[in-house]
Amino acid sequence: RRALGAAAVTAVVALAAATFLPTGQAGAAGPSLRSLAEAKGIYFGTAITQSDLNNSSLTAVAGSQFGMLTPGNEMKWDTTEPSRGSFNFTPADRIVSFAQDHAMKLRGHTLVWHNQLPSWVSSLPTTQVKAAMENHITTEVSHYKGKLYAWDVVNELFNEDGSYRSDAFFNAMGSGYVADALRTARAADPDAKLYLNDYNIEGQNAKSDAMYNLVKSLKAQGVPLDGVGFQAHFILGQVPSSFKANLQRFTALGVNVAITELDDRVQLPATGAALAQQASDYTAVINTCLAVPGCAGITQWGVGDADSWIPGTFPGYGAATMYDANY
Ligand code: XIL
Repeated sequence: RRALGAAAVTAVVALAAATFLPTGQAGAAGPSLRSLAEAKGIYFGTAITQSDLNNSSLTAVAGSQFGMLTPGNEMKWDTTEPSRGSFNFTPADRIVSFAQDHAMKLRGHTLVWHNQLPSWVSSLPTTQVKAAMENHITTEVSHYKGKLYAWDVVNELFNEDGSYRSDAFFNAMGSGYVADALRTARAADPDAKLYLNDYNIEGQNAKSDAMYNLVKSLKAQGVPLDGVGFQAHFILGQVPSSFKANLQRFTALGVNVAITELDDRVQLPATGAALAQQASDYTAVINTCLAVPGCAGITQWGVGDADSWIPGTFPGYGAATMYDANY
């Protein structure tokens, strides 16, 4: 139990509270996050990268506590199609095998994104981007056909003010690239749930309004879309108060919602008071998903603080996950 951070204990308690488990028994030796989540009709997932597979402490927690797995980097374009028409699925296949060995489901992440995009795509003449995008989607989705629960088809499509990000895809095709990507993915794997995924859309704001309006219009046009992913890269104490109402307005459009990349970054060194606040942030997020019918589940971005992307991307911050460096 000491190996679990305050946030992890609270996550177990939040999930257990409404079931059968006396809260005093929650902890490492008790039921897993995975089984508690599944008993409530949601999943609890994590993300791992290829190098994480060599860390036996990490894989022991990943394989026992989580029921859903997202490859942290290995399904991104720079890995899967580093040069035009030349595909490499070996790193992602290793993570898929790990998930299958542990009876975990998988979220595919991600097909169309401005980041981790090889420069050959952004250097293409605009007249060739559509064919390249469709070929990328068709090839990758077909490779994993029948193996994935869901795909993040388009990732991070909006700017903070709600305008479209002017990446290679928008510049070549306008906003219609989103519908085209979704239709192409559906044709390649009719059973995978198709998501749009973004950050800073957890509360009601200009960016989530843009996502809302897009989802509404895609649904009205009959474009295949099953869900919206809320990355949920939170800062300590800043889970938006409109989170629940915001998720509800999306599910009212007839799509699922999912928390896809949860973490809650803390200024280092993390004090006891900060970790207590973090525990209540995690509790709020989990209770929000549990309170919204149509919230499919929650994925934490990384297994533990030692493998989280936060310290590398936000210098001075860390301790962002439920598990400390000792898992
Ligand atoms: C991050 C990975 O965790 C890092 O290892 C990588 O260096 C950069 O990307 N939003 C996303 C994720 O959709 O794919 C990002 O993952 C984190 C932000």
